Amino acid sequence: MRVMIIGGTSGIGLALGRYYVGAGAEVALCGRDPARLVSDPLLSHQRVQLYRVDISERMMLSQVMTQFTSQRTGGLDLLIVTAGHYIDAEQAQENERVDALLATNIRGLCNAFDLALTFGARQLVAVASIAGLLPDYPGLSLYAASKRATIAICDAYRIGLSPRGVAVTTLVPGYIDTQRLRELNFGSAAHKPFLQHEDRAVQLMVAAIQRKSPRYIFPWQLHLMVKIFSLLPRWLQRLRQR
Ligand SMILES: NC(=O)c1ccc[n+]([C@@H]2O[C@H](COP(=O)([O-])OP(=O)(O)OC[C@H]3O[C@@H](n4cnc5c(N)ncnc54)[C@H](OP(=O)(O)O)[C@@H]3O)[C@@H](O)[C@H]2O)c1
Repeated sequence: MRVMIIGGTSGIGLALGRYYVGAGAEVALCGRDPARLVSDPLLSHQRVQLYRVDISERMMLSQVMTQFTSQRTGGLDLLIVTAGHYIDAEQAQENERVDALLATNIRGLCNAFDLALTFGARQLVAVASIAGLLPDYPGLSLYAASKRATIAICDAYRIGLSPRGVAVTTLVPGYIDTQRLRELNFGSAAHKPFLQHEDRAVQLMVAAIQRKSPRYIFPWQLHLMVKIFSLLPRWLQRLRQR
């Protein structure tokens, strides 16, 4: 099995990479800053390739896919996109940051899916977020909106690709205790509701990918909370936000 993970240089992507290498796959780990992995023992593994690529740069991404798919047995079975850009409400006032978010979370995702198809990928996977499930959330951020778009984009690819037998899986997680989430929360994400350990999240994601689940939302407890919240009248939702 040949797996490419864009966003594989840290966090969820890297943890998925470790799983697939352990399961015997040939794995390409991709990100803008691969240097951060130089001392990682995973790299000494023969079946791991590390690539520097920005998902928003289509040419660069195409070159990397050409390199990976022409090696050894060749081809691409599974593409997983975990690359994601986060900005908070204050940063949403800055054009450059907004552009980076859109380029990575939206244009980048489409670049990756389109190109992977030309290289014969049989399954496409993207990581959205439970934050993207609430259309009327009064505190809706641009990040959450981009993750809502991720879900919609995956739905469109799934419908379009089903006659070709290509599966599209959208992973829609709640909080996962990655280094990035801890950084965004000043060192600890322990206060986040239904926080999941990275290893447990990887187990659940891999199982959803294997059964070709169209959309996998987890953990169920947070999903339930979101559903209940979305049933509340708007004025009550606003109160809850304060
Ligand atoms: N952790 C959570 O609680 C949580 C919850 C819901 C959804 N998510 C989503 O899950 C994904 C992974 O999150 P994480 O917590 O594992 O964060 P992370 O460690 O920051 O992972 C993001 C990865 O994407 C890469 N990346 C970012 N921009 C890129 C670009 N333009 N081109 C190529 N690679 C790029 C980063 O590497 P470089 O910097 O080297 O490029 C990094 O490897 C994100 O999409 C996030 O929105 C996370």
